[in-house]
Amino acid sequence: MGCPYFVLMKKVFIQTYGCQMNEADSEEMFNHLSARGAVMTDKLEEADVVLVNTCTVREHAEHKAVSFLGRLCKWKREDPSRVIIFAGCAAERLGKKLQKRYPYLDILSGAKSIDNFAHIVDESGLFSAAGSPAPVKSPVLAYATIMRGCDFACTYCIVPAVRGPVRCLPCEDILADVRRKAAAGAKEITLLGQTVNAYKDGAVTFADLLNRVGEVEGIERVRFTSPHPIYFTPDFLRAVKDNPKIARHVHLPVQSGSTKVLKEMKRGYTREIFLEKTDALHACGFNISTDIIVGFPTETEADFEQTLSLVDRAGFMAAYCFKYSPREGTPAARMTLLSQNILEERLDILLNKVRGLSDNAYLAQVGTVQAVLMETPNKGRTSGNLWVQTEKEYPIGSVINATIEKSEGTLLFAR
Ligand code: 5AD
Ligand code: SF4
Repeated sequence: MGCPYFVLMKKVFIQTYGCQMNEADSEEMFNHLSARGAVMTDKLEEADVVLVNTCTVREHAEHKAVSFLGRLCKWKREDPSRVIIFAGCAAERLGKKLQKRYPYLDILSGAKSIDNFAHIVDESGLFSAAGSPAPVKSPVLAYATIMRGCDFACTYCIVPAVRGPVRCLPCEDILADVRRKAAAGAKEITLLGQTVNAYKDGAVTFADLLNRVGEVEGIERVRFTSPHPIYFTPDFLRAVKDNPKIARHVHLPVQSGSTKVLKEMKRGYTREIFLEKTDALHACGFNISTDIIVGFPTETEADFEQTLSLVDRAGFMAAYCFKYSPREGTPAARMTLLSQNILEERLDILLNKVRGLSDNAYLAQVGTVQAVLMETPNKGRTSGNLWVQTEKEYPIGSVINATIEKSEGTLLFAR
C-alpha cells in the first residue's frame, strides 16, 4: 500500500504533431498536468504518461498520429498503470471511434475541448488534485494563443470542423500572459491563431494588439502566425509600419495562383488581390513565405501554370507545398480526384521551382546590417526570420546589430 505522504511525480512524455498552434496547445495542456504534480520527460521509456497532440489537416498527418498510438500498445502493456492521452484535431475528428479501436487509450480530448482539458483530466481520476503549476523558466521564444477556431469555409479544409468558429481571447488576458512570459525571460512572442489577423476584442484591432504586446517590458520582438490575406488592409500596415518590434516576416498561405481555383476553394481573394497584398507587405519590408496546394480537384494544367507564374511574381522567401488530400466531410472531398500521378508530377515541378527561393532571400542580405535576436550564444534570427551565425558570442536573448558578411545556403554569417 502506498504511503499517503509520499506523492510520486508523474513523468509526461509529449508528442506533438502539426502546427505551432498545436505546440502552444501542448504547452497549455502540460501546464494543467504540471498543476497536478506532473513533470516533463523526453524519454518515452521512463514516462508514466504520454500526451499525443494530433493534427488532421492532411491524411498523412492523421495517419502518423494514429500509428504512434498503435505503437503505444506495447508501452502500455509493459505497465498498465501508464496513462495515454490522445488530444487535438485528429482526436476531435475520430472521436469515440478511436476508443473502440484502441481500448487502452485512457483520455480522449478533442481540439474543441482545449478550454475544458483540466476538467477532462480531473474526471478521469488518474491525476491528483490541482495545485499551482511548477514554475518553469520560459525560453527566449514563447507563444501566446490569441484566438482559436476559424470562420472561413475553405472547401478543402477540415480545420473549421475540428476547431469550431473563431473565439478571440480578451486583450487584457493576452497581455497578462505575455507579461508572465516576459517576466520569465521571453524576448520574442509569437501570437497564434488560425486566422490570427482577424483578431478583434471590442475596439482593439489586431494591429493595436501587436503594438501593445511590443510595449510589454522585456519584449523585443513580436511575430504572428498564420494570417489570412484579406485582413492585411492599408490601415493595418499604417499601424505597424513604424514599429521595429513587429518582425518583418509573414507566413501568408496563398494555396493557388489561379483565380478560378481560389474561387472554388472559397479563399475570398483573387490572384490579383493576393499580389496587391504581397506588394504592399514587401513595400513595408516584410519577407513573405507561403503554403501552396497542388492538385485541387478542379485544377487544370492552365491553373497550375498560374500557380507557377505567381511564385515567379510574388517574391516569396519560402513556400511549403502540399499535395491535395481529401478530408472527409469537406465540400471538396465530394469532387472527383485527380490522379496521384498528376499530383506527384505537379508537386515535383513546383518543388523544383521553390527550391532556390530561400537561398536567394539569404543572399540578398549580404552587406546589410540586421538586428539579430540571439537564441544561442552565436546564433539568432533577423527580424525577417533568417538565421545568422556570429563569430563572437553574445548573451542569449540580446539583440545585436550584425553586419552580414556572407551567405551559405540558408545561413548568414556575421562578425
Ligand atoms: N490537402 C492538402 N493541403 C492542405 N492544407 C490544408 N488542408 C489541406 C488539404 N486538404 C494545407 C494548406 C494550409 C496548410 C496548413 O495545410 O496549404 O495552409
Ligand atoms: Fe482552413 Fe481556410 Fe480556415 Fe485556413 S482560413 S484554417 S485554410 S478554413
